[in-house]
Amino acid sequence: MSTNPSVPRHVAVVMDGNGRWARRRFMPRVYGHKQGVDALVRAVNAFADRGVEYLTVFAFSSENWKRPNDEVSGLMGLVLVAVAKYLAKMAGDGVRVRIVGDRSKVSNKLRDAWAHAESSTAQNSRINLTVAFNYGGRWDMVQACRRAIEDGVAPQQVDEALLARYMALSFAPDPDLFIRTGGEMRISNFMLWQSAYAEFFFTERLWPDFDETDIDAALQAYRQRDRRFGGIPAEEPVLQPG
Ligand code: FPP
Repeated sequence: MSTNPSVPRHVAVVMDGNGRWARRRFMPRVYGHKQGVDALVRAVNAFADRGVEYLTVFAFSSENWKRPNDEVSGLMGLVLVAVAKYLAKMAGDGVRVRIVGDRSKVSNKLRDAWAHAESSTAQNSRINLTVAFNYGGRWDMVQACRRAIEDGVAPQQVDEALLARYMALSFAPDPDLFIRTGGEMRISNFMLWQSAYAEFFFTERLWPDFDETDIDAALQAYRQRDRRFGGIPAEEPVLQPG
């Protein structure tokens, strides 16, 4: 556990800008995603070195099926390549890998690769990397409700704590810092429930270029935030009656 409260325990990242990064080099979009995987592997270690315990990244959204077939299949293939290329290194680096998202629509090959990545890193604890794949924040809320109903949960038993236990990220604390690269300023259906009190950091940097300098800038911005969780500013004295 992080001893320094100014370091976020959990960082969520929308890794945006791979397509533009590739296009600027007259390369296919999938090439940008490939560079994105390399950037992710670097980022995992950099965040771990800085004391972040959980890193959750958006790799494929429930809505990404709308992309051209070659990009969708390219992304799926890239997962297999990434697991083959980097899993041993991640395991050696103490990274625990988890995947969240709807696995029902991905190929058996991909499901097997995920299962292998999860089981072979299950003993690790330096940092928890969660890859959100075929994931959407709304999907997560729906699947949580469905599973609660299947378990026979009565309406009066439903509260925030109960639903949180059914969410795909129930094993992690809520994200403290939510980063989006690539210049867009939106959530795009990522971690809707969990980001209720996250601090947001948006950067123009395209994901393949996101490096340690950018990570330090994001963590520095986070340190300067006054987190109130609905309370009052820390410097404001509480007036006593009478
Ligand atoms: C957004 O960039 C990025 C994605 C939709 C995919 C991100 C995926 C990776 C970095 C690969 C991760 C894979 C594994 C195995 C963890 P974009 O394509 O929307 O870029 P653009 O906004 O420039 O078009």
